[in-house]
Amino acid sequence: MVDTNTLAPEMEPNRQLYFMAKSREYVKRKSEELGRNLTVHITTFGCQMNAKDSEKLLGILEKIGYEETDDEKAADFLIMNTCTVRENANQKVYGHLGMYQSRKKKALHRMIAICGCMMQEPDEVAKIRSSYRFVDIVFGTHNIFKLAELLYQTFTKKEQVIDVWEGTDQIVEDLPAVRKYSFKCGVNIMYGCNNFCSYCIVPYVRGRERSRQPEDIIKEIKQLVADGVVEVMLLGQNVNSYGKTLDNPITFAQLLQQVEQIEGLRWIRFMTSHPKDLSDELIEVMKNSKKICRHLHLPLQSGSSRILKLMNRKYDKEQYLELAAKLRREIPDLSLTTDIIVGFPGETEEDFEDTMDVVRKVQYDSAFTFIYSKRTGTPAAAMDDQIPEEVVKDRFDRLLKLVQSIATTQCSRDTGKTLEVLVEEVNEKDPSMVSGRLSNNTVVHFKGDSSLIGTICKVKMIESKGFYYLGELVE
Ligand code: 5AD
Ligand code: SF4
Repeated sequence: MVDTNTLAPEMEPNRQLYFMAKSREYVKRKSEELGRNLTVHITTFGCQMNAKDSEKLLGILEKIGYEETDDEKAADFLIMNTCTVRENANQKVYGHLGMYQSRKKKALHRMIAICGCMMQEPDEVAKIRSSYRFVDIVFGTHNIFKLAELLYQTFTKKEQVIDVWEGTDQIVEDLPAVRKYSFKCGVNIMYGCNNFCSYCIVPYVRGRERSRQPEDIIKEIKQLVADGVVEVMLLGQNVNSYGKTLDNPITFAQLLQQVEQIEGLRWIRFMTSHPKDLSDELIEVMKNSKKICRHLHLPLQSGSSRILKLMNRKYDKEQYLELAAKLRREIPDLSLTTDIIVGFPGETEEDFEDTMDVVRKVQYDSAFTFIYSKRTGTPAAAMDDQIPEEVVKDRFDRLLKLVQSIATTQCSRDTGKTLEVLVEEVNEKDPSMVSGRLSNNTVVHFKGDSSLIGTICKVKMIESKGFYYLGELVE
């Protein structure tokens, strides 16, 4: 038998294109046997990075001949793209795996793969290797581009394939990707994180910071715009440090200015900003931009300078408040959102009150609140004085109440104004309405039909419902 691997090109992306073609032959034969197309279902946990990775996986699989299905029970190929940022994300994965095992027993050709952040943890991979033998493929965050090759290996060798890389400096571009929406798309501008916030597992599972070349990013966005995309979301764990490690360094603000020049592109979003790296240059560029959306997600994590130091966040309460005040002053219509962790080791009532104080002063448009979750291997996991559950729960409830009441007031401030809305979909509950988002990311529902999807409409904000508007089409 000819060893396929020796015939495969060594260079990427050609190597993967080769394995896509080889896998396609296999999938075609199987489809003919079954008299129908093979289907795939991807369950995605976690952040926008993972959502983007899943679009890449689906792109590869469609090239191989799989068809996407919503029906998790019936799919021929089940993939779970995992998150490990908090403990409960891991628990969900094992819950799904139990269900997958029984599905596999019903149809032996059914394939199961697990990938993503959780698979970058050696203990989790060991658990799959020893107790979940029915899982066919395990891979990590650094080699999702290799799916076709791993799949082909499974088809030919019929044994569990585990391929997890500890790290990488490789960025493989130009592989197919499927887009969930025709009019908006996430674009990775960098991978990994160098910040090592003491509670966070991301730097360990996503590796060191690597920025893409600006030319490659611009080329990708131009192509997307040519395909009908009007809004891009630039993605990175800490976009404010984009470009620092490139041979020809450029700043994130400079990249944004280049993106702004792309004709046909209407709106630009980005995620996530670390407060320590948010420059005056960026504020200036945002302020003068016609395309950058009026939304900034600026994770606070804690309002206590003492806890922020223990978290290794590299800013204190006063610096954060100053930054928020400057943003509000320079860009008055900006919506500010945040992430907050409650119950970090050693958090006292006084520390927590500092967090409440920042929330009151900044007046966030919305905030994601999280209960601290101990992640093995991070410095915080080894810290003394983990906070009792009932204390954390009580603080969490108080914070949530405050955040919600402020968000309700903030959200209603545009009542009566006519604003632009990018229409995203027909309303799920009422098919005579459509739903979309304002530049500041607030959701708006108004009377309209599917022909409006992907267009930017002028809509009058009639009534605020707390965290969304009911509106009326003006134009
Ligand atoms: N426990 C709770 N929340 C966490 N986050 C990151 N790590 C943890 C953890 N160990 C939160 C942070 C981050 C968001 C994506 O997840 O608030 O901004
Ligand atoms: Fe985690 Fe901090 Fe990096 Fe964000 S900046 S991914 S919280 S280590």
